[in-house]
Amino acid sequence: MNQIEYILITGGAGYIGSHTVVELIQHGKTPVIVDDFRNADPKILRGVEEISGNQVICERVDVCDETAMRVLFERYHFTGIIHFAAYKAVGESVDEPLKYYSNNLNSLLVCLALTEEFKVENFLFSSSCTVYGQPEKSPVTEESPIIEAKAPYGATKQMCERILSDFVKSGANIKVLNLRYFNPIGAHPSGKIGELPSGKPNNLLPYLTQSALGILEELTVYGNDYNTLDGTCLRDFIHVCDLANAHVKGLDWLENQQEALNEIVNVGTGNGSSVLEIIHTFEKVANRSLKWKFGPRRSGDVEQIFADVTKAKKLLKWSAQKTLEDAVRDAWNWEQKWRNETIDTN
Ligand code: WQD
Repeated sequence: MNQIEYILITGGAGYIGSHTVVELIQHGKTPVIVDDFRNADPKILRGVEEISGNQVICERVDVCDETAMRVLFERYHFTGIIHFAAYKAVGESVDEPLKYYSNNLNSLLVCLALTEEFKVENFLFSSSCTVYGQPEKSPVTEESPIIEAKAPYGATKQMCERILSDFVKSGANIKVLNLRYFNPIGAHPSGKIGELPSGKPNNLLPYLTQSALGILEELTVYGNDYNTLDGTCLRDFIHVCDLANAHVKGLDWLENQQEALNEIVNVGTGNGSSVLEIIHTFEKVANRSLKWKFGPRRSGDVEQIFADVTKAKKLLKWSAQKTLEDAVRDAWNWEQKWRNETIDTN
């Protein structure tokens, strides 16, 4: 009898992980979420199951715990791994570097040791445009220089990409795809899953939507003296559902490759949008004005970065389909639904 082919999703209850699990199920895959919920809310699993109409397998395990992870590799026949589990707050990583190096590196090393032992061939790594630092110019291609990361978070992503590259060069029988995310925003259009930052959000969209609901004080725009059209920073904001689909296309591509490999692909829209453009887009889709003010620049911010997405189109046959308005609208819809439901269940 054919064994079920499971896909291990470390950190699968998180923001990008949960949206990817939905997308995988809708494309006929069988994901196994492994998450210890240190940075995720178990309620998200209910949303994933409501959207996909499927029971979702979830194992509450610390990905750094090799003994516990080996039990899972013995229990499930994994044919692929998507490794999301990592801390990802740039500012926090400056204050707590050891926490970031320990967790972000050890979780990868445990996965790779077991990947080799159990002969799993397909490995997708959740990387980041942070590896580019402040690029000389945008859009950035995958060949753009890797500049020393300003914060430990970005350094862990650079180190993990190096670990994967050296592992493949050593002759490991593994096909690796590093996906360099730009700025994921938005939520599933159903409003059943979305971004759930723990504590006060660092990222622009969740802060904006919480301040629009009066949960947080008015939004501060960090800096208006950058060398951009409106003086505010430029980013490549990509809908989280488009990003999730890139993982499905990436896994399909890996499964069709015959030889060991290590590939790197940018996952963005290919367009740069400013912080003020995000605010104006919100006011348009929400049909309400937002209170905000200018403040000083935030240390560590890069002025502008957006992706050249030629390689994603060519290699993965993938490109972003949703607009900036779709993403901001879905973020706002999620924020309102989540808050209403949370109030109802409290
Ligand atoms: C975007 C812009 C801020 C908050 C993130 C993740 C990082 C990586 C890339 C995945 C900046 C401005 C923000 C606020 C503001 N993703 N801003 N007021 O810094 O580009 O990095 O995406 O790996 O992990 O952190 O995203 O949303 O924090 O900031 O003006 O209250 O919005 O200055 O210009 P960033 P961000």
